[in-house]
Amino acid sequence: MQHLTAWSCENLDKIPVAVIGATGAVGQRFIQLLENHPWFSVEVLAASGRSAGHRYKDAANWKLSEQMPSDIGEKKVQDIDLITFSDNNIEIIFSALPSDAATKVESDLASKGFCVFSNASAHRMDQDVPLLIADINPQHLELVAGRKKAQKGFIVTNPNCSVTGLATGLKPLHEAFGIKSVVVTTYQAISGAGYPGVPSMDITDNVVPYIPNEEEKVEEECQKILGTLTDSGVILSSFSVIASCARVPVRDGHLESVCVALESNGTLDEVKQAFSQYKGLNNKTPTSPLRPIIVTEDESRPQPLFDLYNGEPERARGMAVTVGRIKKVQDKLRFYLLVHNTIRGAAGCSIMNAELAKMKGII
Ligand SMILES: NC(=O)c1ccc[n+]([C@@H]2O[C@H](COP(=O)([O-])OP(=O)(O)OC[C@H]3O[C@@H](n4cnc5c(N)ncnc54)[C@H](OP(=O)(O)O)[C@@H]3O)[C@@H](O)[C@H]2O)c1
Repeated sequence: MQHLTAWSCENLDKIPVAVIGATGAVGQRFIQLLENHPWFSVEVLAASGRSAGHRYKDAANWKLSEQMPSDIGEKKVQDIDLITFSDNNIEIIFSALPSDAATKVESDLASKGFCVFSNASAHRMDQDVPLLIADINPQHLELVAGRKKAQKGFIVTNPNCSVTGLATGLKPLHEAFGIKSVVVTTYQAISGAGYPGVPSMDITDNVVPYIPNEEEKVEEECQKILGTLTDSGVILSSFSVIASCARVPVRDGHLESVCVALESNGTLDEVKQAFSQYKGLNNKTPTSPLRPIIVTEDESRPQPLFDLYNGEPERARGMAVTVGRIKKVQDKLRFYLLVHNTIRGAAGCSIMNAELAKMKGII
């Protein structure tokens, strides 16, 4: 049965949205998550010249287990360099472009008045761009408040997929105990590299302890997300992060081993409570989960095979981070967390960010 909330009966007029980079791993996830969305309706699909002019079902090599929505399959993919979004009354543009393409395209779109919600790393650390996880640092959306009313566009980014999981796990600890330092080791899925991504000869029967630029992103982005919003922008958090990132032969889901030095020590029970009582947006928007963090007591979990689609209600499947094996080691707190890299770690987070912007009247 559909979960009935305050948001489900309003909003009969849906906001027309475009997905750019629509044919790739994250683009496909956008299409799947936006199917029957109560607020947004996908009207335009764009990608590179390679896909332009083809029907979506011919251009996209669909890799999700969920079926491609049939109406989307028939839509023509447009060339990002030629398309005029205003012809289609588009207000929101969800971007799943590679970072090099996103740098100029997203800036141009924002300067033309569009609201861009991006997965690319290109603008994440820009002063006037929120690096947003709507249920972790919603106040950072203030950086773009008022732009739309002033008929200006903006870019809102979501973090690197591993960082989305890590920042979610760290947020309740940061609030309750304070954080001195973090050491994280990631075990990242193949889909994190897009499609076709990592060659099968490199990853079959193997683990690759190198993902270009990944450790740097993990080390800097957490500090912006958990930083403090001031009149002059976001002041970065002062805790240090050391990251080691490896690619593993798993299809979806990034597992992370996290070791945290806290400012003030809590008992294990207090730590577990801080995790499981963290409410976030509490499903006040369609894609935000009732509980962003699920704590498992099973000694062998979380695992991508079993815990990847945690999150409720139905529309928020894959939007919760699962935390387990929480223990004290010497004076540190050690735990594992699991994040769905293309849902909470990418398209789902972008959609939740746009929902928050709509809820706050920013779009
Ligand atoms: N995969 C993840 O788990 C994940 C998580 C978080 C963030 N991200 C970020 O999200 C973005 C998309 O990642 P992805 O994994 O979906 O990559 P992907 O599978 O390689 O897809 C890239 C998409 O961008 C299009 N594209 C490529 N070059 C283009 C250009 N020059 N102009 C216009 N369109 C172009 C491609 O279109 P064609 O099919 O026409 O070539 C395709 O639709 C990246 O910035 C990535 O870092 C990915």
